[in-house]
Amino acid sequence: MLVLDGKIAAAAVKATLLEQTQALKAAGKRMPHLAAILVGNNGASETYVASKVKNCEETGFGSSLYRMDADVEEAVLLAKIAELNQDPNCDGILVQLPLPKHIKESKVIEAIDPAKDVDGFHPVNVGRLVQGLNTFIPATPYGIILMLEHFNIETKGKNAVVIGRSNIVGRPMSILLSSNIAQGNCTVTICHSHTKNLKDICLGADIIVAALGVPNFLTGDMIKPGAVIIDVGITRVEDATAKKGFRIKGDVHYEEACAKASAITPVPGGVGLMTIAGLLKNTMKAYQGL
Ligand code: GUN
Repeated sequence: MLVLDGKIAAAAVKATLLEQTQALKAAGKRMPHLAAILVGNNGASETYVASKVKNCEETGFGSSLYRMDADVEEAVLLAKIAELNQDPNCDGILVQLPLPKHIKESKVIEAIDPAKDVDGFHPVNVGRLVQGLNTFIPATPYGIILMLEHFNIETKGKNAVVIGRSNIVGRPMSILLSSNIAQGNCTVTICHSHTKNLKDICLGADIIVAALGVPNFLTGDMIKPGAVIIDVGITRVEDATAKKGFRIKGDVHYEEACAKASAITPVPGGVGLMTIAGLLKNTMKAYQGL
């Protein structure tokens, strides 16, 4: 069984990006720049944004982190986005989700210039993805595609099951896997909380992407021998023996899945690292122009 190690695949993507930024530097050019906005102090969001900024540094990208209080007015956030849209030194804008309840997420996403929307969440970019046009692919599905590419996982003609229909992962993932691209051309079934016979559907899958946010949801009895298992779950589960008081758990029962799968992504150390690789690639793309 092959462990799809995110450290290895992400390092390969980052090495290529570092070569590109070094070439830009040698030519005396401006570096690609990512602006991240973090509203409030959700622990998980803090960790993700800090990691995004750190990875920018490691690959020679510039980055700015704008923090706003949890009770910030929506208008203040929108004004910051408008300012960054106009800033010629800012290539990519990322507003970390989720946002506090009083802020309308769709309004914020639509305020971002589609040419700087490195999350690929703007309806213009989602529409471009659906139509197979050049766009920013949302970072997590993009990272999964890069992972499949790195490990030469064949997808053409395979049955893929995506569990979860979020705008961030499940839905764009289902579109990509069904697209006519190198890591696509699958027959895709997208499952959600109303799906009947989920176990039977999963047992017919050659590839399963679990992106529902329920720890250990996908058990061994739901997996066909030889299937490829992609675990997108990153739920914090309390654990008094862990240094931080919690552990990160995936959506897949790892030990049971290992007994069945031909390849699997670990959690942590799998898809999470690839998400950042996808984001960095999108930021380089924004710098170069879509
Ligand atoms: N929250 C969880 N995943 C993501 C992501 O990919 N981008 C943003 N902006 N927020 C997130």
